[in-house]
Amino acid sequence: MTYETILTEIRGTVAIVTLNRPQALNALNSTVMVELTAALAAFDSNDAVAAAVLTGSEKAFAAGADIKEMQSLEFVDAYLGDFVAGWDAVATFRKPLIAAVSGFALGGGCELAMMCDFIIAADTAKFGQPEITLGVIPGMGGSQRLTRAVGKAKAMDMVLTGRMMDATEAERMGLVSRVVAPGQLMDETLAAAGKIAGFPRAAVLMAKEAVNRSFEATLAEGLRFERRLFQSLFATADQKEGMAAFVEKRKPAFSNR
Ligand code: HXC
Repeated sequence: MTYETILTEIRGTVAIVTLNRPQALNALNSTVMVELTAALAAFDSNDAVAAAVLTGSEKAFAAGADIKEMQSLEFVDAYLGDFVAGWDAVATFRKPLIAAVSGFALGGGCELAMMCDFIIAADTAKFGQPEITLGVIPGMGGSQRLTRAVGKAKAMDMVLTGRMMDATEAERMGLVSRVVAPGQLMDETLAAAGKIAGFPRAAVLMAKEAVNRSFEATLAEGLRFERRLFQSLFATADQKEGMAAFVEKRKPAFSNR
């Protein structure tokens, strides 16, 4: 499939989506939204894909929603068209999705990275929610996901001042899981995605579902949900194989059954 604003590739069982609007630092316009969500939908329903990576360029993961596209938007159009709601499809992608971030991840770019399951950053990465400088506020989840990721103090600081957070601070605050040298970013991210892709598919999807549930449920409900998923995995052939392989001191041969 050929797209105008993204590049896609399947390497082994890992799908890679690269944002590709270099002239606008990968600013997220409506075409990017339509194309990225279409590509992810195709990967979700493709059995040959076990995990995915979302990345940008060395200079910018994405410098935000496209300001030139948004500038003349009126409230009624934004409201009736449910402006930016289409991006929710990234957060509901069922398979593991890792963001590999280099350079700017600002506004919608930071929010897009936070829709992924975790973020691996190059040491050049800069995260920010500068919407306030434009007279708006985060609109793709920043006020909610950033606050859950880094806590109120840092989230308020970022959202109210519009300042950027570098990779070191982002790792310290738990916004990103790993920081690597720029040249290592794709290798490290693809290695992580490949590792996940080698594990039993049902367990991987349930693990993602269980962690995500912690953001929605009370502790008691989340624990009950986790326990039921955990118990259900004993119905899979891969649980039998994984545990037999451990006991027999051999490598497991998973079947995704
Ligand atoms: C449209 C953008 C853009 C954006 C950069 N460009 N960011 N176009 N929307 N968000 C374009 C510039 O206009 C310019 O095009 C080209 O990309 C290169 O950018 P420069 O500014 O020349 O690069 P540089 O000097 O290196 O500065 C990089 C930067 C700066 C610090 C990242 O571009 C910047 O501040 N961008 C805006 C960041 C921002 O405010 N993001 C939040 C957007 S609001 P030309 O044609 O002039 O060469 C948002 C809301 C999300 O995301 C909520 C839901 C919608």
